[in-house]
Amino acid sequence: MERVWWKEAIGYELYPKSFKDTNGDGIGDLKGIIEKLPYLKELGIDLLWICPFYLSPMRDNGYDVEDYYAVDPQFGSMEDMDALLEKAGALGIRVIIDMVLNHTSDRHRWFQEALKDPKSRYRDYYIFKESKERPSNARSCFSGSVWEKVEENVWYYHTFDKTQPDLNWECRELRREVYKIMNYWLDKGVSGFRMDAITYIKKGNSMKNAEPQGEDGLHDVADIGLNQPGIGDFLLEMRKECIDGRDAMTVAEAPGVPYDEIGEFIGENGYFSMIFDFSYADIDLAPGGNWYYQADWKFSQLKKLIFHSQLSVQRQGWGAVYLENHDQSRSLNKYFRDKAALPYEMRKRFLQSTALGTLLFGLRGTVFLYQGEELGMMNCPFSSIDEFDDLNTIDQYYRALKAGCDEKKALKFVNDRSRDNSRTPYPWNAKKNGGFTEGRPWLKLNPDYRENNAQRQQNEDSSIFRFYQKMIRLRKEKTETLVYGTIEEIQVENEPVIAFSRKAESGKTIYVYINMGEDEETLAAKTGKCLSCNYGDMICKENTLTLRPYEAVMTES
Ligand code: GLC
Ligand code: CA
Repeated sequence: MERVWWKEAIGYELYPKSFKDTNGDGIGDLKGIIEKLPYLKELGIDLLWICPFYLSPMRDNGYDVEDYYAVDPQFGSMEDMDALLEKAGALGIRVIIDMVLNHTSDRHRWFQEALKDPKSRYRDYYIFKESKERPSNARSCFSGSVWEKVEENVWYYHTFDKTQPDLNWECRELRREVYKIMNYWLDKGVSGFRMDAITYIKKGNSMKNAEPQGEDGLHDVADIGLNQPGIGDFLLEMRKECIDGRDAMTVAEAPGVPYDEIGEFIGENGYFSMIFDFSYADIDLAPGGNWYYQADWKFSQLKKLIFHSQLSVQRQGWGAVYLENHDQSRSLNKYFRDKAALPYEMRKRFLQSTALGTLLFGLRGTVFLYQGEELGMMNCPFSSIDEFDDLNTIDQYYRALKAGCDEKKALKFVNDRSRDNSRTPYPWNAKKNGGFTEGRPWLKLNPDYRENNAQRQQNEDSSIFRFYQKMIRLRKEKTETLVYGTIEEIQVENEPVIAFSRKAESGKTIYVYINMGEDEETLAAKTGKCLSCNYGDMICKENTLTLRPYEAVMTES
């Protein structure tokens, strides 16, 4: 297997709005990231993915870009960005940035020009349609139809919010502009991109009517608008124009790609270096994406999804693995549900977080942590819909009410799934606002910051932070096995136990056993020398391994 830095890197997704505020306006900023680089270095990560910081009206927290060549003043300036790239580089941390190229903000100059003058060349940069009736019944990801009417008989298309009009990739001139943007940032020194919502760029079935799915008569665009035939031409051209010949990587947000086509995306000559797979991150979602139909699931299903994903990717190329991101609820809540530690149950929280950490660092693929995961951060209790910021959450809340849920139930569903759970400000210490800001934070902090914060965990030898740090070191030490080794599931009878091996070319093998359940489990196991155990020492006698509640071990032979 070809050795490359982006396979060995440990990624960390950083949400700038919530990381560290340095000027008291309650919003995290680039200077804040610079200030905390040494913290990230200490944790051991070496690849930073920074979520959007471009000029934006912030309807969708920067995923609505007004100018790709400008830093939003609330995050700082282009000088700050240059300084950030330079300082990160000096610490051996590469930076990738979010490229949001399926759509822009409606405040982008192109869209404004297109609206003003139907004859403008920018009209073709977007998807305008003349039609008496709504051109199709696709439902946008955030609310209502994908079509918004602008004049009599004229509509434009938006996969997400109506303030996020989709770009028309069929237009050559637009594509040239897109490549120019990407090359501008690569020339500046970023090491690549996380490609936002990229499997939506080719329009196909969502332009036609589909079977209505609910009372609104609409059909989810995620079912009919993803990965449409012909998308590969755009993606290949993009790779050739921007990535080939450079020392850069891409990681694509790519839902909707079936496993038998994944090779085209991530194989030898794939469009991207790697993609994020959503199969197990979305295990709690029922089809249709409505948060008020929670899917019930068992550990056996989770295992199936994980290994199906791992093996399909392994057969065809390289993947990225993660348990959390800025669109997901916190993993402790998602994977342990009503068994998740309560805020004050610190021991249980440690065990559950480190069980998940052992899973994540054991899997094959480039690991991406999400900020706060290394502290075992959990979902934040929101007591009213007014406390949320995320437009998706607010949309889902009203959808739930419309579907007949009472307010209490609707609030519970959005509490479980809200994207704001992962966006609460970072708790640096136990002081006012967790040391995140001197001012008023833009979103409330998880109230447990007094007990659970970075400073406290850095001061303890056996904290979640220290455990993640050790895992990162282990992954760097055991590159041959933990990065490049093949993965194979170990079949066990115990429902809550996830077990697998990683085998290097040399034959060296690492075994991983994780008890996701609250009961003790015993199983016959191949083990060897203990590399890591979240209880300190593992219990293994005559090839019988006893796993205490939430125990996770890694061994080597
Ligand atoms: C992606 C982003 C999400 C954003 C959406 C629209 O899914 O991860 O945060 O809202 O695209 O850009
Ligand atoms: Ca600020």
